Amino acid sequence: VITSTMPGAALVTGAGSGIGRAASVALAAAGFDVHVLDVDEGALKETAAIVEKQGRCVAHTCDVTDPDQVDDTVLRAHDERQRLDVVVNNAGVYQVDDLLELSYANWRRVLAVNADGTFLVSQAAARRMVTQPVHPALQRRGMVINISSVAAEGGRPNRTAYGASKALVRHLTMSQAMAWREHEVAACLVYPGEVFEGMLQNVYQRLSEVTGRPREELIEGAQRALPRQQFQTAAEVAQRITFLATTPGMSHSGTVLWCDSHLSAI
Ligand SMILES: NC(=O)c1ccc[n+]([C@@H]2O[C@H](COP(=O)([O-])OP(=O)(O)OC[C@H]3O[C@@H](n4cnc5c(N)ncnc54)[C@H](O)[C@@H]3O)[C@@H](O)[C@H]2O)c1
Repeated sequence: VITSTMPGAALVTGAGSGIGRAASVALAAAGFDVHVLDVDEGALKETAAIVEKQGRCVAHTCDVTDPDQVDDTVLRAHDERQRLDVVVNNAGVYQVDDLLELSYANWRRVLAVNADGTFLVSQAAARRMVTQPVHPALQRRGMVINISSVAAEGGRPNRTAYGASKALVRHLTMSQAMAWREHEVAACLVYPGEVFEGMLQNVYQRLSEVTGRPREELIEGAQRALPRQQFQTAAEVAQRITFLATTPGMSHSGTVLWCDSHLSAI
């Protein structure tokens, strides 16, 4: 049973770390039941222990690149309340390789998690969302929030598979927004800039190996390029995700919400 005061149920992928963990906490604080999903069981347990302090949390170990695991997980999450109101496609992997050296295996791995995973989870969730009643408070049947990146725009010579996967997520989201609006299922994008809490910590090590420049120099350079000389925080991105999730109606379908410390303006 849903009421006009209950935000509903949310599913967050890649919830074991960084932005996914922060988003799970923020959505629980906003009143959502939160289904946290990650391939890393240990990290997922840690997240669940934190989220449970805010509200109801169910943990699902799942690899988003496996269609059967995804279907089974989304089905179980949906079955709890017979609805899923928000899905945050956040699971992702990064890649740093010189474009002449980038292997097909690395290209496929990044596309599989970032793009295929987003496609599979969104579709499995939307198939259920279109059949559920409109939520009285959220005034729609469901919402898909896909985490892309500023890397979706422009070239990234050392991070091409990553940028390409995020550009694919952008196109997928715009198509979802158009295809599902008649079902009152919204789809929108968040573009984080550089968040130094998750995957980025290892990225600068790899960038240093590929470019031959010291890691600290690369980090300082990236920070200096930002207007406030500060990286984004996962909590700031989580705030944007929660804003989208809790805004009633369909007006944010097709929206790209930048959360990038003006990185894009440089
Ligand atoms: N950190 C940044 O600066 C930044 C910037 C722009 C966009 N993003 C995007 O935000 C999202 C989260 O980034 P983060 O920095 O928090 O990364 P992170 O590495 O801290 O977290 C990613 C999570 O995804 C999980 N994951 C990886 N492969 C998976 C799979 N096959 N199935 C299920 N889960 C899987 C990992 O276990 C991990 O917990 C990613 O999509 C990333 O591309 C991050």
